[in-house]
Amino acid sequence: MEILEAIKTRRSIRKYKLTAVDDRTIETVLEAARWAPSWANSQCWRFVVVRDADKKGKLAEALSIVSSRPNRATEAIRKAPVVIVACAELGKSGYFAQEPGKPVTDKGDWCMFDTALAMQNLTLAAHSLGLGTVHVGAFDAKQVAAILGVPDGFCVVSMTPLGYPDEEPPTRPRRELAETVFYDKFGSIGSA
Ligand SMILES: Cc1cc2nc3c(=O)[nH]c(=O)nc-3n(C[C@H](O)[C@H](O)[C@H](O)COP(=O)(O)O)c2cc1C
Repeated sequence: MEILEAIKTRRSIRKYKLTAVDDRTIETVLEAARWAPSWANSQCWRFVVVRDADKKGKLAEALSIVSSRPNRATEAIRKAPVVIVACAELGKSGYFAQEPGKPVTDKGDWCMFDTALAMQNLTLAAHSLGLGTVHVGAFDAKQVAAILGVPDGFCVVSMTPLGYPDEEPPTRPRRELAETVFYDKFGSIGSA
C-alpha cells in the first residue's frame, strides 16, 4: 500500500474479529514503531504487548468515561486479540544526556511526541497489513501502570487494540487545509 493511501484510508477500528494475530505480524508492526524518529535518537518508548484476557479486561476497566459516556474503545480493548500499550521513559526526550533533569526547550519532556510518532508508524503499518487499531488516550494512566507493572521513571502514554477489523467505519471529516495552514504569518490567507 502506498504511504499516502495508507494515511488516508486508516480508520479508528473499535470492533474486531476473534481471529488471532500471529507473532510475526505483531513483530512487523512493532518493527515499524522501532524505526520512528525521536529526540536525539533517544527512543524513550517501550511497548507492552498484552494478550492475556484477564489483563485486557483490567485495561478496559481503566478506560475513562468520556463526555459522560463510556470510552468508545472499551469493548475493543477487552475483546481484540492483542492490545499494545505504549509507555515512555521520562527525562530522556527533550533533554541532553550530559545535563539530566534540565529540559532543552520550554516544552519540557517530549516523550509524548516521540511515542506518538512511533504509535502512528505502528497503526499505519498495521493498516497496510489489513489490521485495525485505534489510538486510545482517555484512561487512568496510573491504574494501567499498576496493571502492567510499569516502573517508576516511566509513564503510560497510549494504547491500541490490534486485530482484524469487524467494521468499516465511515471516514471522519477533516478541516480544509485553508483553515489550518498559513503562509508566512499565523492567520494569514494564502496558497501553496
Ligand atoms: C491522542 C488520541 C487519543 C485518542 N483517544 C481515544 C479514546 O480514548 N477512545 C477512542 O475511542 N478513540 C480515541 N481516539 C481516536 C479518535 O477519536 C479518532 O482518531 C478521530 O475521531 C478520527 O477518526 P479516524 O481515526 O477514524 O480518522 C484518540 C485519537 C488520538 C489521536
